[in-house]
Amino acid sequence: MQRPFLKWAGGKFNLLPHILPQLPTGRRFFEPFLGAATVFLNTDYDEYHLGDTNADLINLYKTVKLLGEDYIKHAFKYFKPRYNESRKYYQLREKFNQSCDPIERSCLFLYLNRHGYNGLCRYNRSGRFNVPFGSYKKILFPDEAIYAFHKKSQNAKFYCDDFSKIMKKANKLGDIIYADPPYYPLSKSANFTSYGQIKFSHDDQQSLADLSEKLATKNVHIVISNQLTPETQVLYQKAKLYQFPVRRSISCRGNRRYDVEELLAVYCPKDTVNSL
Ligand SMILES: C[S@@+](CC[C@H](N)C(=O)[O-])C[C@H]1O[C@@H](n2cnc3c(N)ncnc32)[C@H](O)[C@@H]1O
Repeated sequence: MQRPFLKWAGGKFNLLPHILPQLPTGRRFFEPFLGAATVFLNTDYDEYHLGDTNADLINLYKTVKLLGEDYIKHAFKYFKPRYNESRKYYQLREKFNQSCDPIERSCLFLYLNRHGYNGLCRYNRSGRFNVPFGSYKKILFPDEAIYAFHKKSQNAKFYCDDFSKIMKKANKLGDIIYADPPYYPLSKSANFTSYGQIKFSHDDQQSLADLSEKLATKNVHIVISNQLTPETQVLYQKAKLYQFPVRRSISCRGNRRYDVEELLAVYCPKDTVNSL
C-alpha cells in the first residue's frame, strides 16, 4: 500500500482494506474530497479527476505533478533540523501567508504540514494559516512518497472546486466515484466539521446523497465514506450500507480513544463494469 505524503484529518489509509473491495474496475475515477489522496494512490484506473476546495492542497498536487524531483529538491531545503524550532516555524508560517509564488507556497505548505501541530490545516477568517508549532523531535522528509505521487499523477487532473462540479463530470458506465466528505457529526451538540473557513453542513451532506442517487441512474458507481449516525442512515437509504467499527482519537495528543461505526454507502449501477 502506498502511504500519502501529507498528514491529513480524516485520512483513510487504515480503512483501505474496507474501501478498496467496493471499487470495481472501470475507466475513469473521480475523487471529489481528495485530502491526502489515499484512495487515488492505491487504485489503478486509466484516468483520474481529483478535487478539493482547499486551494493550497490542489496547488501542491499540481506542482508535484509538474516538477517531480525538482519539487523534492526545493521542498527539502525547509527540512533541515534547524528549521524544526518554534521561532523559525512562525517565521516560515508568516512567509507562507505572505507568499503569492505557487512553488514557494507548495514547499512551505508541506513544511507546515509536517512541522505544525498534529498535521492540522486551519486558516483564520482572513484566510491566514494559523496552526501552531508541533514540537516534534524528529521530522521525516517524505521524498519517496512524493515521488510516488508524482509518477502516479501523470494521468490525473486536479481541480480546486466544490465536490458537485467534479462529480457532475461522471456520467456513464465505467465511471467510479469515491467521496469522502467531512464526517456527519455524531451528536446535535457536536459541530459540523470545518476544513479551513468552510463548514460542510447538513444541506451539503444531503446534496451529496441526492447527486449520488441521480448519477447512479446513469450507471456511475459511487462509494461514500461517512460515520454511522441516525442521519446518515436516512441520507443514504437508497444505497447499500456496509458498517464496521473503528477507533478514533478525541484528545489532541491522540491518547484517548473511542469506538464508532464507520459507514460505506455504495450506489451500484445495474450492469457491471466488467462487461465493458
Ligand atoms: C475527510 S477529508 C478527505 C480525506 C481523504 N479521503 C484521505 O484519505 O486523506 C475531506 C476533504 O474534503 C474537503 N472538502 C470540504 N468541503 C468540500 C467541498 N464542498 N467540496 C470539495 N471538497 C471539500 C476538505 O478540504 C478535505 O480535504
